[in-house]
Amino acid sequence: MSTSSKENTNEIFENIKKNLTRGVKDRRHAFHSPVFSNINIKGTIDSRIVILRKFDPTKMELNFHTDFRSPKVSNLKKNNKSMFVFYDHKLKIQMRIKTTSTINYQNQITKEMWNKTKLLSRKCYLTSKDPSSFTSFPQDGIPEHLNGKEPEFEESEKGYINFTVVENKINEIDWLYLEIAGHRRLNLTFKNNKPEYQWLIP
Ligand SMILES: Cc1cc2nc3c(=O)[nH]c(=O)nc-3n(C[C@H](O)[C@H](O)[C@H](O)COP(=O)(O)O)c2cc1C
Repeated sequence: MSTSSKENTNEIFENIKKNLTRGVKDRRHAFHSPVFSNINIKGTIDSRIVILRKFDPTKMELNFHTDFRSPKVSNLKKNNKSMFVFYDHKLKIQMRIKTTSTINYQNQITKEMWNKTKLLSRKCYLTSKDPSSFTSFPQDGIPEHLNGKEPEFEESEKGYINFTVVENKINEIDWLYLEIAGHRRLNLTFKNNKPEYQWLIP
């Protein structure tokens, strides 16, 4: 990409959408595993890596999957303000994306995504103890007979009770291109999913 394409706001927006779409499909793309942050019950911030499962360029939404029992679910229900941070060192692009989160549980959206979830990924939802709960010895909480193997389809279906899709509506993107020849920073805010642009000093 030439420097000029880093100065054309519409082109930058098109590239953001293209790379988020790639991030969902390509496990090796740096945008596949962003940092997701939200505010916990103590009013402090929790951040962690999640896997980007869906990007909807029409609704401007980012989705990831989690366990309903995870503390981040109840915390997001109390405070739906959230944020993703992406960085791709090859593209030299950082994106800080402010979002509003919605919890999907036992609905059409979770049903659709669960049906596409592979057996190995379904295994994560089969722990008997809650994620983040204390354990007196080191373990992953997954039934022992599943050590090193995938569950059978029938057993994997039990995980649906814990399966949650977190939908995150994009409100604002802070796009930063760090390049010795000239850093560039653009803020995108969205009204009816249409971007408004503001250049910033990086
Ligand atoms: C590569 C990678 C991918 C991960 N993907 C997810 C994910 O998609 N959803 C999720 O809930 N946790 C995921 N985790 C685990 C979280 O980073 C975190 O440790 C866990 O969700 C507990 O966080 P919490 O206590 O803030 O809820 C992933 C961790 C790594 C290292």
